[in-house]
Amino acid sequence: MLDKELLQFAVEARKKSYSPYSGFRVGAALLTKSGKVYGGCNVENAAYTPTNCAERTAVFKAVSEGEREFAAIAVVGGKGEEPAEFCAPCGVCRQVFAEFCDPDFRIILGTPENIRVYTLAELLPLSFGKADLN
Ligand code: THU
Repeated sequence: MLDKELLQFAVEARKKSYSPYSGFRVGAALLTKSGKVYGGCNVENAAYTPTNCAERTAVFKAVSEGEREFAAIAVVGGKGEEPAEFCAPCGVCRQVFAEFCDPDFRIILGTPENIRVYTLAELLPLSFGKADLN
């Protein structure tokens, strides 16, 4: 799947965002190595801390369906009707990516018209992971 198509999938997933407290709507589209796509949106809560980011919604949906091999994720977010120009994943979500994804996992940001691609190694350098527990 093309990066642009994955971003467009994230734009669609963002429409399901449940964000009545922040008004900040985020969508994600997670591509498995086998070619499946799992969408996710942020899901907020009146007690605030139970809020789940769009990226983690997508990862947890996929893992709960038996998927553990991921190639890329696209993320879009913003307060307006249309996503903002750029929305980077938070640190907690980067750490969750690191649990399942290789350093070359691709993180596709921006808009379908202006795509910016990073690797997990670029966005989470010197990370703590399962190897550190050996
Ligand atoms: N949010 C995400 O869904 N992903 C991120 O990486 C950053 C933040 C959500 C959480 C909350 O619902 C809203 O955006 C404002 O922080």
